[in-house]
Amino acid sequence: MLRLDRISKRFGALVAVDDVSFCLAQKGISGLIGPNGSGKTTLFHMITGFYPLDRGSIHFQDEKISGLAPHVISRKGIVRTFQQTRVLPFLSVLDNLIAAAPNQMGEDLIPLFFRPSKVAAQERKNMEKAVSVLETLELTRLTNSPAGDLSYGQQKLLEIGRVLMAEPRLIILDEPTAGINPSLIRRLVRILETLKDQGIKIFLIEHNMPLVSELCDEVFVMDSGNLIFSGPPHEVQKNKKVIEAYLGREA
Ligand SMILES: Nc1ncnc2c1ncn2[C@@H]1O[C@H](COP(=O)(O)OP(=O)(O)O)[C@@H](O)[C@H]1O
Ligand SMILES: [Mg+2]
Repeated sequence: MLRLDRISKRFGALVAVDDVSFCLAQKGISGLIGPNGSGKTTLFHMITGFYPLDRGSIHFQDEKISGLAPHVISRKGIVRTFQQTRVLPFLSVLDNLIAAAPNQMGEDLIPLFFRPSKVAAQERKNMEKAVSVLETLELTRLTNSPAGDLSYGQQKLLEIGRVLMAEPRLIILDEPTAGINPSLIRRLVRILETLKDQGIKIFLIEHNMPLVSELCDEVFVMDSGNLIFSGPPHEVQKNKKVIEAYLGREA
């Protein structure tokens, strides 16, 4: 699935990611945890091509992706959400999804004039996809509402929906539950489990340990740029290195 080989990233004197190697399981939900500043977000930026690697390589389904531009990586099926939501507030929820669909031939004049039926077929497909994404997100009720009317948490779900329009193989989520209320967190858990059942691989950063235990099939732990643990969630909390990382070495 995704393989990191000895990847490193430094910012001046600071080594944010230090010689990290691991493979994600082929299926299911993988979690990345670690204290603040341990390099988690930097690692995600390296996978998605936003930060070039200083060292090492990244392969996705046996193809080297490190060195490729972010939009090329996303076309290979690795998609991410952004901390800042990119929802377009004046468009409806449905139109936000349709606007996020890749390869919209209707935007090109030549197919529009010469192959109008093909354009129409693709528009229908995008519409069907958007409707099914809204069902998955439990947002059907808000299909025609302006996206700007949604709560912060609902907008974060819509942001995930925009990512789903690209029919990804791997979704990268950096703290998807941050700032959203408990009932929406339950909904997010259901959504992620549905996506997992649909065969979409998920890799997420999450702080809430009970949630990590509930949701994740495997967990990776970083501390000061290093990978200090990988394994099933029930072993994380017993691991001495992990406990030390969270308590601080002086404790
Ligand atoms: N663009 C950057 N420039 C300089 N330092 C950075 C940059 N991005 C992250 N860092 C530093 O790298 C370290 C790891 O940060 P980050 O990956 O955001 O950690 P985490 O997501 O685990 O909290 C931190 O010390 C942070 O200050
Ligand atoms: Mg972070």
